[in-house]
Amino acid sequence: MIIAIDGPAAAGKGTLGRRLAEHFGLAYLDTGLIYRAIASKMSQRDLDPADPEAAAAVARTLSAEDLEDPALRGDEAAQAASQVAAIPDVRAAVLDFQRDFAAHPPGGARGAVLDGRDIGTVVCPGADHKLFVTADLEARATRRFQELRERGVESIYARVLEDMAERDARDSQREVAPLVPAIDAFMLDTTELEADAAFAAALKFIASRC
Ligand code: DC
Repeated sequence: MIIAIDGPAAAGKGTLGRRLAEHFGLAYLDTGLIYRAIASKMSQRDLDPADPEAAAAVARTLSAEDLEDPALRGDEAAQAASQVAAIPDVRAAVLDFQRDFAAHPPGGARGAVLDGRDIGTVVCPGADHKLFVTADLEARATRRFQELRERGVESIYARVLEDMAERDARDSQREVAPLVPAIDAFMLDTTELEADAAFAAALKFIASRC
């Protein structure tokens, strides 16, 4: 069983993906970590994330352990991740890694949940269930702002909103694998939904197709 979840930042994909994985006994992959890890390795080596050749070279050396660094989840890595993710050779270099995870999920799981921007459209177009999770920009920026505050990270709401809008635009307008819903995706708008209600709606959608 493969579940593909796509959508913009802070729409609730991760929370939903982890819960679905736990519920169905599936492995879970947050594919954003792949692009974050590439950006982070480039930053450690003082490389420009917009340099296509350097980014693709780093992408080719990526391993599963690289995704485990907790620092990847910070907002600093997000903008650079969005930049490296727009480079076609980077996406090509990490495609097999993602497909391999879906085809041979770790831990003997009977399938996988992958979340990202292009899972239902490019990485796993044959996924059993596809969800496109979204929410208004303001709602997503408010969530991210609160999350940063809870983690003790000082931030300014207007700046969080601006960064998110910039990332949305780059992720949706790039030429390769842009952020768009697959035509057969279930659209889940979480602007007014708590995590429990989003989970219930996703379960209902999956049950309706089994
Ligand atoms: O999901 P995230 O916010 O951690 O992703 C960080 C960036 O990585 C995002 O702005 C775009 C890119 N990304 C992508 O292009 N394709 C994916 N499948 C996942 C993430």
